[in-house]
Amino acid sequence: MSCPLPGNAIERLEREHSVVVGREHVGVRGDAFAQGAPAFGAILSLVTDRIDAPLLARAPQLRIVANFAVGYDNIDVAACSARRIVVTNTPGVLTEATADLAFSLLLAAARRVAEGDRLVRRGAFAGLTPSFLLGSRVHGSTLGLVGLGRIGQAVARRARGFGMPLLYAARTRANPNVERALGAMHVPVDELFERADFVSLHCPLTPETRHLVNAGRLARMKPGAVLVNTARGACVDEAALALALRDGPLAAAGLDVFEDEPRVHPDLLALDSVVLAPHIGSADLPTRAAMAALAVDSILAVLAGRPPLHRVTE
Ligand code: DGY
Repeated sequence: MSCPLPGNAIERLEREHSVVVGREHVGVRGDAFAQGAPAFGAILSLVTDRIDAPLLARAPQLRIVANFAVGYDNIDVAACSARRIVVTNTPGVLTEATADLAFSLLLAAARRVAEGDRLVRRGAFAGLTPSFLLGSRVHGSTLGLVGLGRIGQAVARRARGFGMPLLYAARTRANPNVERALGAMHVPVDELFERADFVSLHCPLTPETRHLVNAGRLARMKPGAVLVNTARGACVDEAALALALRDGPLAAAGLDVFEDEPRVHPDLLALDSVVLAPHIGSADLPTRAAMAALAVDSILAVLAGRPPLHRVTE
């Protein structure tokens, strides 16, 4: 286990297996992993653990990598398949929590909440004036969703409460019933960037989505547009984003994920118009406990010779 998890995950595993728990921020890079690897039948990994062929070579008995996340771009799934190692993730249980955070960032970035908080704390609030700290209007503005999977749909449901017309771009078009229920219109990705007032990313990180938000697409966005990213940092070219915030056309951004986590691009740190969250999309206690339970269920199933609930493939 990469590090301690909330809930009773360790106890459940220890009832049937011996468990080695790594240190936070160290995970599979630590001594605990190096020493235990030859005997490991399972690894419970975090998104910060890189699971690749050299690492797998050190664990000849490995049968499952259970990722404590819905995204699994940290895992070389092809290398696992070549060794017949099962890879699992934790979809479903974190949908609403991640959508809550995406919407929090959207609102906070648009209405300059974090900037205002900093301003009040440094004693710079001199009283209301009509033109002070004006933000972007959320209600009734158009939201563009890149990806309309579980989390994209959950964000869309929230946006309906704010009267926001919805556009979405996705490799596979959603079922017409889903489109109708959400009032979401499918458009090409470039058109989405041109028409939306807010763009929120809900796609996995793949070679196709790496730097999906690049200088070209940012330049096509509306003056005053807002970008929200709770997917993966590398979906956005952070240097280009910082320029688009500084020189236009963007007014603001809300980011929960970064290209080179935990490092944040210094040009973003310097901007008041970006709200920065420390990868907390799924960070409410019931959600994290449910993710841990799912990952443990998968390990117990595979080590007992049963199929896991959420297997991922290439
Ligand atoms: C995920 O599930 O992919 C998140 O990024 C980790 O909470």
